Amino acid sequence: MATTGFRIQIPATTANCGCGYDSFGMALGYYNYIEMQPSEAFSIKIEGEGANSLADTAQNLIVRSAQAAYDLAGISMPPLSILCQNYIPLARGMGSSSAAIVGGIYGANLLMGKILDYQAMLELASKIEGHPDNVAPALYGGFTVIASEGGKQYVKKVSLPASLHAVLASPDFPISTKKARAIMPRSVSLDDAVYNLSHAAYLALSIAEGDMAGLRAMLFDRLHQPYRFTLIKGAQEVVEAAIAAGAIGCVISGSGPTMIAFTENDPVLMENIGGAMQEAFAAADVTAQIRTVAMDNQGVRLA
Ligand code: HSE
Repeated sequence: MATTGFRIQIPATTANCGCGYDSFGMALGYYNYIEMQPSEAFSIKIEGEGANSLADTAQNLIVRSAQAAYDLAGISMPPLSILCQNYIPLARGMGSSSAAIVGGIYGANLLMGKILDYQAMLELASKIEGHPDNVAPALYGGFTVIASEGGKQYVKKVSLPASLHAVLASPDFPISTKKARAIMPRSVSLDDAVYNLSHAAYLALSIAEGDMAGLRAMLFDRLHQPYRFTLIKGAQEVVEAAIAAGAIGCVISGSGPTMIAFTENDPVLMENIGGAMQEAFAAADVTAQIRTVAMDNQGVRLA
C-alpha cells in the first residue's frame, strides 16, 4: 500500500576505506533527514548544509532521483512537498550527494508502495551517482563491498562492531569528486595493484571477523591516496597524528578532503584523536571541523 507522508533518515558514508578504492564503503551514524509527501503543488525547503547553495527547484538531486524512481516503475510522480534537514557537509567526502540520491529514491519508493527492491534501488542510485561505493552503504548500512560485473552491481554487506567509532576531521575547503578523480593516474604498476588487492581482501575479511588488528594493519593504500594527499594540505601529518594519538588507522574519507580515523569507542581516546587531527591540520594552516560518530548498520530508514 502506498503511504502518504513520512520522515526518513539517510546516513553519511565514507568510501574507499583506504585500500578499497571505488569498492568499499561504510555507513556512519550521522544523518540527513527528508520529509516527503504528495501535495497540490511542488515545494522543497532546505535547512542546514547547502541551504543557500543547493537547488530548490525540480533540478534538486533528491527530486531528480525521486523522479527517476517513478520513471523506472512506470508511474507518474505527483507534485511533492519536501523538507530537507541537512547535516552532512557538501563536497567533503562524506557522501552528501549519495544521501540525496538514496533519500530521493527510497522516499519515492515508499510513496509508490515499495515497488522497487533494494537491488533495483542500488542499480538506479549507482547510475545517477556514477560510482556505487557511497550509495551502497547509504542504502544497506554497515560495511559494503561492491563490484560491477556484466552490467550488474554485486553488493555484500557485513555489520560493523558496535565498539567501532570514527573521528572525522573536515577541512573548511571543498574538493569536488571530479577534481579528485582527475588527479589519479590512468594506469598503475603490477606491484601497486597486488599491494591493494591483498590489503583489500584482508581488510574485508578482518571486518567480517571483527578482527580490529587486521583492520589496523591494512588501512594503507597505494592506488589513490598518494595522489590525493597533494590536494589536502596536512593530510599525511593528520594520518600520523591520529595513529600516534591511538587511532586504529586514518585514511582519506571518499575523495576527501575529510580525513577519517577509526577508533574504539572510548570518549577520552576519541577526544585525543580529534584534538591531534585538528592540531595537525592547523599546523598546515587548515581549519578543520571535528565530528565523532558511531557506525550505522541499518542504512536509509524511516526516522
Ligand atoms: N570512490 C570515490 C572516489 C568516492 O574516491 O572518487 C567519491 O566519494
